[in-house]
Amino acid sequence: MSDRLNGLVAMVTGASSGIGEATALALAEQGATVVLLARRRDRIEALAARIGTDRALTVEADVSDREAVEAAVERVVGATGRLDVLVNNAGTGVIGPVQGADVAQWETMVAVDLLGVLYCTHAALPHLLAAAAGERAVADVVTISSVAGRVAKPNFGVYAATKHGVGAFSESLRAELAGRQVRVGLVEPGVVHTELTAGSFPSDVPSLHAGDVADAVTYMVTRPPHAAVNEILIRPSAQER
Ligand SMILES: NC(=O)c1ccc[n+]([C@@H]2O[C@H](COP(=O)([O-])OP(=O)(O)OC[C@H]3O[C@@H](n4cnc5c(N)ncnc54)[C@H](OP(=O)(O)O)[C@@H]3O)[C@@H](O)[C@H]2O)c1
Repeated sequence: MSDRLNGLVAMVTGASSGIGEATALALAEQGATVVLLARRRDRIEALAARIGTDRALTVEADVSDREAVEAAVERVVGATGRLDVLVNNAGTGVIGPVQGADVAQWETMVAVDLLGVLYCTHAALPHLLAAAAGERAVADVVTISSVAGRVAKPNFGVYAATKHGVGAFSESLRAELAGRQVRVGLVEPGVVHTELTAGSFPSDVPSLHAGDVADAVTYMVTRPPHAAVNEILIRPSAQER
């Protein structure tokens, strides 16, 4: 346990499993009060109980529902009085060829992995700017992109499109906010065995641990206010592409 994020509030979307769960735990370890957002209430409540209900809030919401996201952020700030860190982690991913694809799955990916990031960031931004203008003099948006946000491989077309999209959005927003102390960063993991990849990658494929990605997020948000780590690409050592 450290006190580097003591007194701060960090919202993690998709906190009910995998990278989001690990990130929420890691930020709580640093002293933050964490807001656990996801659709599966039982999972976020169980995680809040592990962290301590005095230091964790649960929000059941779908990031692809703009009004629900706006209401969730207002509820959180109403309850905590501030928002210092947003981790856009919620995501879904279906891989496969474009030919013959189920277009409804594309629509879900775009709604969650791209629009969800835009909605959460837009709703959180006024509060992040307010936090950045306060005593700590910095606030953070970190989005979990992917190696697929850099390299578009066959069968990853729409997933890669959403991740390239959040990359472009983040870089544009970073430049827009430069000088206003809201840092905008991207973490781009390679393979991590989670519920997301369970059906897509054999279990012997080299993998990171969710905690490795959580470490990257923690590194970004614990830098001193003058230093912005804009991007971390992290692969398993044995992952080729
Ligand atoms: N695993 C990998 O190899 C890998 C690699 C690169 C990047 N990533 C990225 O890492 C992020 C987390 O993925 P993961 O691997 O940790 O997968 P995961 O274990 O399946 O977690 C996905 C999380 O997103 C939440 N979620 C999904 N749809 C949502 C929605 N509509 N509204 C709110 N929450 C939603 C899920 O919670 P509920 O179902 O409870 O809502 C869950 O908490 C994703 O953005 C993914 O693209 C993963």
